[in-house]
Formats: sequence, C-alpha cells, structure tokens
Amino acid sequence: MTEQKATNVTWHAHAVSKEERCKLNGHQGAVLWFTGLSACGKSTIANAVDHKLHLRGKHTFVLDGDNIRTGLNKNLTFSAEDRAENIRRLGEVAKLFASAGNIALTAFISPYRADRDQVRALMPAGEFIEVYVNASLETCEKRDPKGLYKKARAGEIKNFTGISDPYEAPEKAELVLDADTKSIDQLADEVIAYLEKQGILTI
Ligand code: ADX
Repeated sequence: MTEQKATNVTWHAHAVSKEERCKLNGHQGAVLWFTGLSACGKSTIANAVDHKLHLRGKHTFVLDGDNIRTGLNKNLTFSAEDRAENIRRLGEVAKLFASAGNIALTAFISPYRADRDQVRALMPAGEFIEVYVNASLETCEKRDPKGLYKKARAGEIKNFTGISDPYEAPEKAELVLDADTKSIDQLADEVIAYLEKQGILTI
C-alpha cells in the first residue's frame, strides 16, 4: 500500500453525483481492465470495443500503456516497483473515469496479480472488469509488431515480460479472451455481450 504523504487535506463532496452523471450518459461507469503479454492484442481489442461503443453513443476512453508512458508515467521504468506504481496511478485514473460515468478501457500488461487486485479493491463490486487477453507467448513473439521480442531475446532489452520478466495470468478474470484463434471483431463482440449482460450499457 502506498502511504499518503500529504497532510491537512480535506475531501470535498461533489455537487453532481456519480448516479446523476450516469443518468446523463445513459449507462453505467466501468473499467474494462485488459491484461496480457505485449502484442497479445490488448490495445487493438480495447480500441475495437471503444469504436463499437462510441458508434452506439456510449461515453468511452482508451488508456494505453505505451501512450501513458510518454506522459503521466514518463518517469517510470519496467522494474517491478515501477510497474506497480504505473498500475497504481492508472488504477486511480481509471477509477476517476468510471466515477465520471465513463467506460474506461485500459491496455496495460499489468503483469503482477497483486497490482491488479489492488486496482480491483479501489472500486465498487462489478465496476472493475478484468479481461485476460490470452495469447500464447509463441503467438505474441511471432507477431512482434514492434520488434521488441527479438531485441529481448538478443539481450538488448532487460526485464522483458514473458522472456526475462514474469507474467502472472489472472485467476479470477471476469472475461478470458482467446486471442490465439479468434478475430479482433469476434473478441470485441464478446466484451460488448458481457457489458450488456451485466447491465452496464443502460441505466
Ligand atoms: S506494465 O508492465 O507496466 O503494465 P505497460 O503496459 O505500461 O507495462 O507498457 C508495456 C509496453 O511497453 C509494451 O507493450 C512494450 O511496447 C513496451 N516495453 C518496453 N520495455 C518493456 C519491458 N521490459 N517489458 C514489457 N514491455 C516493455
């Protein structure tokens, strides 16, 4: 647990409640937390879901690991400690989106179970939806869109997830996507079907 260092801070209540924001949006707030190896398809699936939901008038936003590491989290490395801080901050950011009645779709490797569980614990039951994008290391390495697996195998990148750093697969994910065999479109539809079933797309 990260200790709060600031003292003399006072929590201010919001004049507009989360319920009122959801009512205005016409759906619930939620966090779709995509996790999986680099190149498993997290960002691509998240963006496909984002696009489909946007076309249906839903308020959504994708938070992507590579992108956020150029801004908010540009001071973090890939050490276990910095990955934990990466996920802690992004969990808080995703929670803010959900509190604003938005559906946040996050695409971070988030390799450590404990880090993901800490994010889950920040939110009310049902709001955090863990989506395990299950593609084998073999598939991801074959795709290697950024050439990073090649570099990691050559020892040019240290602590690369799946090669020289751990990935702890979820044990209680709300959704497990078979990204080895199914298409992006099929998987995006599976995610949307889950949201429908859970009543998240309506109020
Ligand atoms: S996380 O582990 O802290 O959740 P995050 O999702 O933000 O990672 O960033 C992962 C992305 O950073 C990968 O998709 C890849 O493009 C890039 N990357 C660079 N170095 C590493 C590394 N050592 N391990 C994993 N990904 C890396």
